[in-house]
Amino acid sequence: MNRRHHRIVATRIGGHEVLTWREEPLPVPEDREVRLHVLAAGVSAYDIMIRSSKLLPPKPPFTPGVDVVGTVDALGEHVNGLESGQPVAALLGGDGGYAEYVCVPAKSAVPVPRQLDPAEVVCLVANYLTAHRVLHADAKIQRGEKILVQGAAGGVGSAILQLGKLEELDMFGTASPHHHELVQSLGATPIDYKTEDVLARVCELSGGGVNAAFDHIGGFRQLRQSYRALCKGGRLVWYGVAASKYHGTRIIPLSIMTMLLLKILPDRKKARALFSADSKGYAQQVLPELLGLLAAGKLEPIIAERIPLNEARRAHECIERGGYAGKYVLVSDAYGGE
Ligand SMILES: NC(=O)c1ccc[n+]([C@@H]2O[C@H](COP(=O)([O-])OP(=O)(O)OC[C@H]3O[C@@H](n4cnc5c(N)ncnc54)[C@H](OP(=O)(O)O)[C@@H]3O)[C@@H](O)[C@H]2O)c1
Repeated sequence: MNRRHHRIVATRIGGHEVLTWREEPLPVPEDREVRLHVLAAGVSAYDIMIRSSKLLPPKPPFTPGVDVVGTVDALGEHVNGLESGQPVAALLGGDGGYAEYVCVPAKSAVPVPRQLDPAEVVCLVANYLTAHRVLHADAKIQRGEKILVQGAAGGVGSAILQLGKLEELDMFGTASPHHHELVQSLGATPIDYKTEDVLARVCELSGGGVNAAFDHIGGFRQLRQSYRALCKGGRLVWYGVAASKYHGTRIIPLSIMTMLLLKILPDRKKARALFSADSKGYAQQVLPELLGLLAAGKLEPIIAERIPLNEARRAHECIERGGYAGKYVLVSDAYGGE
């Protein structure tokens, strides 16, 4: 008898109500693929964007979710170095992680130590990877430098602070007041972006500007603010468009144009954009290092809530409502964590 499983499918573009729990035959791994029995799948602001915008790929019906942790359940032809039952983490393109089973290219599956909590591990796959990339590859951060992290209590923002602390950075983080205690506990000086003059406050606290600023909000005013917070030689890294929540996807071309403008200013500052954290096999290179830091207790991913896989709609509602810290994680019946 053909085995079956469930996955969440966005049946059309729209609100969270378009997410449907669907029963289907198990996917079969193709050449050089493995099938994973999903334990934990990440939920991100990006998932909300592709679910609600006609302008962005993929086209419905599709399963959202870019990051997943699961055990290898079946191997396609020509797969070496992985075995059945082994826990692995993967960053996904194409059909996503909100599923009981998913097939992934074997080369994208990174082995995970068995003792780690899959819900914590899944936070590393997209969020900490992005944080590592913007800090080290894009901003080329040096030990002891000063940084500004916009949205410091968010999934990626809190990851930047935890990795930044390991480099002994002097950190300033924007957040709503109810997240200030958290931002402080992560080693940064909190700034209330809702009531304070962020630029004036950063310049005052840092004594003339920061060496690097990380911005996932986007838009002209926001990017200009992050850029102006830099001292000479400073680097701005823009990696997201959280402002699309208020301004729609037109914020994307506007942000790209702003970055192009900032790039050509002759003022010895740099402006870089990151569109995908995984280009050039970055995940394969860096995830093992991040897993090592997690196993050593040097990283503590902040999980907003572990939500059952079939309640993905609720996770989207929570993100849309806002006010949370860290990352929402979907967990399957096979998840044995906390
Ligand atoms: N380029 C890439 O490869 C890549 C990879 C991963 C993520 N991303 C993008 O990065 C973005 C962030 O992802 P995430 O998962 O970290 O998001 P998130 O967890 O939803 O965080 C959003 C945070 O932004 C804060 N915020 C909202 N408006 C703000 C403003 N005007 N100024 C300062 N902070 C503000 C909120 O803080 P308060 O709640 O404290 O108000 C919230 O904590 C998303 O747009 C995602 O698509 C890009």
